[in-house]
Amino acid sequence: MDNKIRKAIIPAGGLGTRFLPATKAQPKEMLPLIDKPAIQYIVEEAVRSGIESIIIVSGRHKRAIEDHFDKSVELEAELEARNNETMLSIVKDISQLADIYYVRQKEPLGLGHAVLCSRRFIADDPFAVLLGDDILVSDPPCLRQMMDVYEETQSSVVAVMEVPWDQTHKYGIVDIGDNDDKVSRVLDIVEKPAPGQAPSNLAVVGRYVLDPAIFGLLAVAKPGKGGEIQLTDSLQELNRIKPLTALNFDGKRHDVGDKLGFVQATIDFALEREDLSADVKKYLRERLAQE
Ligand code: G1P
Repeated sequence: MDNKIRKAIIPAGGLGTRFLPATKAQPKEMLPLIDKPAIQYIVEEAVRSGIESIIIVSGRHKRAIEDHFDKSVELEAELEARNNETMLSIVKDISQLADIYYVRQKEPLGLGHAVLCSRRFIADDPFAVLLGDDILVSDPPCLRQMMDVYEETQSSVVAVMEVPWDQTHKYGIVDIGDNDDKVSRVLDIVEKPAPGQAPSNLAVVGRYVLDPAIFGLLAVAKPGKGGEIQLTDSLQELNRIKPLTALNFDGKRHDVGDKLGFVQATIDFALEREDLSADVKKYLRERLAQE
């Protein structure tokens, strides 16, 4: 077993129901924040963290994702003919980001099942999982922070952050006792506890570094919350035999699986961009003055 994390799984098999009708004929992962599809931010975080190969677990109607990360011969020729060097290099870079592989999740049976679909690709190495609904902005990237913890502790790692108590039922929640260190041993982890039942308000955001022993547990897992095979349930089992660590990560999280979160991320990213920031600020000020 290699102890460096080189491979990552990006589950992208979901139906994107929350963004219908935009997702009727295109994957939700391809919805752009300004001019970059959401999934590209995720792939870039993985690559910046040192990941070499990525497996995207896709489903039906997800061809656009494969096309996006592929070389686009016609487009490159066209941009070259027009001497559009800037766009040409942006487009070329995408197809050279990482080695990307694809596997189909034939039925939407849950996150745990999506991870299990990549078992043969991962084999016996520790690996990362990045969920596309969470775009995390931090330096170093969240996954890199987690990989550093893994390399030190050799234990699986989940990234966590505090959420308001009335939101805990939307997340996997960890119990770390009264420890308030940045890195702490997980005592227990539960998927979407009922209101009032959460052991803490520390929620798992969509980043995991996992020991391959998780696959054996996922293979025999029973459906959990929502009738789906939940990754969190198998993590709870794993934690009984191999310690699980929580990293309270430094950085900002955008929940782009949520409409408000998507709008907020778009505004934030626009305000960070040199080519847009001043105009967007001016527009927002004028627009809010009319409220
Ligand atoms: C998934 C996980 C949950 C985690 C969340 C983070 O839930 O099951 O444990 O806290 O991602 O975004 P989902 O949001 O897919 O329902």
